[in-house]
Amino acid sequence: MNTNILSTSEYDIELAGEILAGGGLVAFPTETVYGLGANALDENAVKNIYKAKGRPSDNPLIVHVADKSDIAPLVKEITPKAQALIDAFFPDALTIILPKSEIINSTVSGGLDTVAIRMPKNEIAQKVIAAAHCPIAAPSANTSGLPSPTKAKYVIDDMNGKIDAIIDGGDCEYGVESTVITLATEVPTILRPGAVTKEMIEAVIGKTEISRAVLEGMKNDEVAASPGMKYKHYAPKAKVIIVDADKKAYEDFVNTRKNAFALCFEGDEVNIPKLTFGRENDDESQARELFDALRQIDEMGAKKVYARIPNTTGVGMAVYNRLIRAAAFNVIDLKKPFFIGLTGPTGAGKGYVSRYLSSLGFNVLDSDKIVKNIYDNNPELLSRLATEFGDGIFDGSTLNRKRLAEIAFSSDEKRERLNSIVHPEVIRLCEENASGLTVLDAPQLFEAGAEEKCYKVISVVAPYKTRLERIMARDSLTREQADARISAQLDEEYYINNSDFVIYNNGENVEIQIENILEEIL
Ligand code: TXA
Ligand code: MG
Repeated sequence: MNTNILSTSEYDIELAGEILAGGGLVAFPTETVYGLGANALDENAVKNIYKAKGRPSDNPLIVHVADKSDIAPLVKEITPKAQALIDAFFPDALTIILPKSEIINSTVSGGLDTVAIRMPKNEIAQKVIAAAHCPIAAPSANTSGLPSPTKAKYVIDDMNGKIDAIIDGGDCEYGVESTVITLATEVPTILRPGAVTKEMIEAVIGKTEISRAVLEGMKNDEVAASPGMKYKHYAPKAKVIIVDADKKAYEDFVNTRKNAFALCFEGDEVNIPKLTFGRENDDESQARELFDALRQIDEMGAKKVYARIPNTTGVGMAVYNRLIRAAAFNVIDLKKPFFIGLTGPTGAGKGYVSRYLSSLGFNVLDSDKIVKNIYDNNPELLSRLATEFGDGIFDGSTLNRKRLAEIAFSSDEKRERLNSIVHPEVIRLCEENASGLTVLDAPQLFEAGAEEKCYKVISVVAPYKTRLERIMARDSLTREQADARISAQLDEEYYINNSDFVIYNNGENVEIQIENILEEIL
């Protein structure tokens, strides 16, 4: 199909209206993003939208009107809250969902008994819809799954040859799609945040909820309030990871990354390849530029992108909602110490991996060293031990570690009490001694619950026989003693099932396994 690239002249707009009225497809600018329009009442034309976008047929479309009086025929009833929202935000970037009337076909509604309606503010959009003399079904004019187009050139990239015409109306003012709110539920609920914010809506209709899916991922078995929420969205081909950090911490972090791009704010001091999406603390500029940046990432051939986290207030919520989907909910929180946990049962060869990571320049924290010195200059910990195990564990004011061990290891219960006092303290000290990305080398990582503090956990395991021989040689143990030690620990299954990565250390290919894991983590 030959796609006509139209201007915004009166003549071209009339032509676009005729194409739409005749059952054709026309992409046009709105204040949010470009839309891909068809006559909403012509089921065949609407089916062609799904085809051109490659969109799943259960994901309903928004019906656009040019005049408020065009809404009534499309819905069962305009409720008082709907009327209040129409009075306040039509035309603007707000889509309302109401029970549909009979004239809305199930192709438009994706099989639901509701319909989404919006009246765009953009003058070209209004003129095109008016020229068509019918309601216009229009999703964003991108290929399904890709970022919505905020410039005509991206519509051309995705739709050239697939639709009748594209009107080039310049860049979109807001840059993120409209706020979608359903009034078909008891409490009005925002299904997709946009430039019309929750605060603005509540000022008009009072209590409004935000669907949980806006900021969190959908569980596999969850029914989507808005079908669009269950599909992968806005995703560039590159892997996007959001970095939760302030400006300085973000800069320090990305500046040590290899083979990665930064998606940051203007003025961030970043010396790896970068793209910006607006200015810090300016959510409108971020919204306007985000999709453009996500598209350029692919044009630049990035494989991995670290994105700076936006604020989630005001329009920032819409920005964060789109970005977290582009990132498939991948967030690194640099405000917490950023540990890679390294653990494994005795004799599996964790020490070798630890030394190798050290030689690569990683900051490796040895929890055994911290445990060794844990009672030094720690009066608070000592007084808690005294309360638990009595003054008998002291010689004067110094702790007698042997006696503490005797008492604590006399029963499982006592040992658990000791661990419950000491483990949190070990974790606290590890956090205190961490800086940025730190490998936490901890044989008791799981026993201490420290895996909760780790972004990723690597376990090192080895065959039983290898481990047995290693610890017999290392610690001069008999076979029986070595076997007893191994039996007292968590079994290999546990390590494998609770780790993100497993290194099999029977002495071969260990470096390659480590490098592969690092490649995936970073
Ligand atoms: O800003 C916008 O809204 C743009 C411009 C072109 O107007 N349009 C747009 O449409 O973003 P689309 O199809 O890309 O996104 C519409 C979203 C989808 O997530 C869809 O699932 C949801 O609205 N939606 C539509 N009808 C619905 C309904 N009856 N119930 C629940 N969600 C609905
Ligand atoms: Mg869309």
